Amino acid sequence: MDQIITPSRHNSIFINAPEPDFLSRRVDGYYRERVQNTWDGGHIMRGRTPGKDALHLSSNDYLSLSRHPEILRAGAECLLEEGNGLLMSGIFLHGDNPLLDLERRMAHFMEAEGGILCQSGFAANTGLLQSIASENTPVYVDMMAHMSLWEGIRSAGARAVAFHHNDVEHLERQVLKHGPGVILVDSVYSTNGSVCPLRDVVALGTRHGCVLVVDESHSLGTHGLHGEGMVAHLGLTGQVHFRTASLAKAFAGRAGFIACSARFSEYIKYESNPSIFSSTLLPHEVAVLGTTLDVIRSESWRRRRLCANAEYLRRRLDALGYNLNGSQTQIIALESGSERQTIVLRDALEARGIFGSVFCAPATAKNRALIRLSVNSALTEAELDRIAGACRDIREEVDMANWASTRRKSARAAVPLHGAAAA
Ligand SMILES: Cc1ncc(COP(=O)(O)O)c(C=O)c1O
Repeated sequence: MDQIITPSRHNSIFINAPEPDFLSRRVDGYYRERVQNTWDGGHIMRGRTPGKDALHLSSNDYLSLSRHPEILRAGAECLLEEGNGLLMSGIFLHGDNPLLDLERRMAHFMEAEGGILCQSGFAANTGLLQSIASENTPVYVDMMAHMSLWEGIRSAGARAVAFHHNDVEHLERQVLKHGPGVILVDSVYSTNGSVCPLRDVVALGTRHGCVLVVDESHSLGTHGLHGEGMVAHLGLTGQVHFRTASLAKAFAGRAGFIACSARFSEYIKYESNPSIFSSTLLPHEVAVLGTTLDVIRSESWRRRRLCANAEYLRRRLDALGYNLNGSQTQIIALESGSERQTIVLRDALEARGIFGSVFCAPATAKNRALIRLSVNSALTEAELDRIAGACRDIREEVDMANWASTRRKSARAAVPLHGAAAA
């Protein structure tokens, strides 16, 4: 494991601007509390270097498109022909333009009237929130919603009202207490793969006159007959005002999207700070995303494979005793708990060539760190068996039986369901 050498403030060959005390204390805190005390001088994010036979479960390229020949060709040809195009904010684009054309195609794909491309999913969420909420708006946000949604609330100066994860009754109590506002949920939660009870949340939001925002980053491309996402698949487009998505997941690119009404797409383009004050996508990125959209619509077998692979691995891991915290999707988390335990888990998996993503605070609650395994459509049965085999073999080494998450699972299993005795 790499040791993190605390950079000296005095021996650099370059001359740094002196840090005032308030900044120095803050940075020292990171090196002392996190690097030295919690990670023993190592780094929770830096384990082994993957070998040739490594299985990468850290990428969100769910449909295995990052090396798709047609997509690569479209990008390469456009780059050679157009270079990097005109480098400027998207607000200057109009008329017959490939980016505007792609916005129309993406909106159509998601069964929306309009939409805008953003530089990232993070920019989509912060820009949207900043354009629809203000200091008097209560914003109801699932406790496990993505950080970019929380950041959006902050940049809007709005009031965040959190509700327990996927707890619609708690959400309703909060709405009754604070009044109509904006409801923020992820369709699929990025840390543990749990799914939002969308029908219930949408019914509640509609009943109470709220604006509904669903982040579809982990369901766009993967859910729905053609990958149109969960909201469209459930027939809820007429009640959900905004859908946002990172296109750095199933779309395997670097962009974000907001699906909305035509009226709103015009407004947000000239109202949201990331849209006005940050440069838009490059021509070859637009070409890549356009071809990716064609592939996602037409190659349904990738979605089917992804779904089957994820289900197979979830079933195997569940049978081995891991608590998957309600994952119903391609995101599967092994919740080891403390950061120290998570380093042990990371090392045990990586020693067997299995590379997932470490999640710890601030991406999770303090003692609920985990390793996330993102399943993809290209994994073979033998590879899935290898992952499950590694997870079986490491259970003692990582002390899986004593994780808090495992104990929660055992406690749940010990409580008889209502009517179970009669059945
Ligand atoms: C649910 C969710 N929303 C938004 C984002 C931000 O997306 P991007 O990486 O494109 O900025 C992510 C990515 O981590 C995500 O998981």
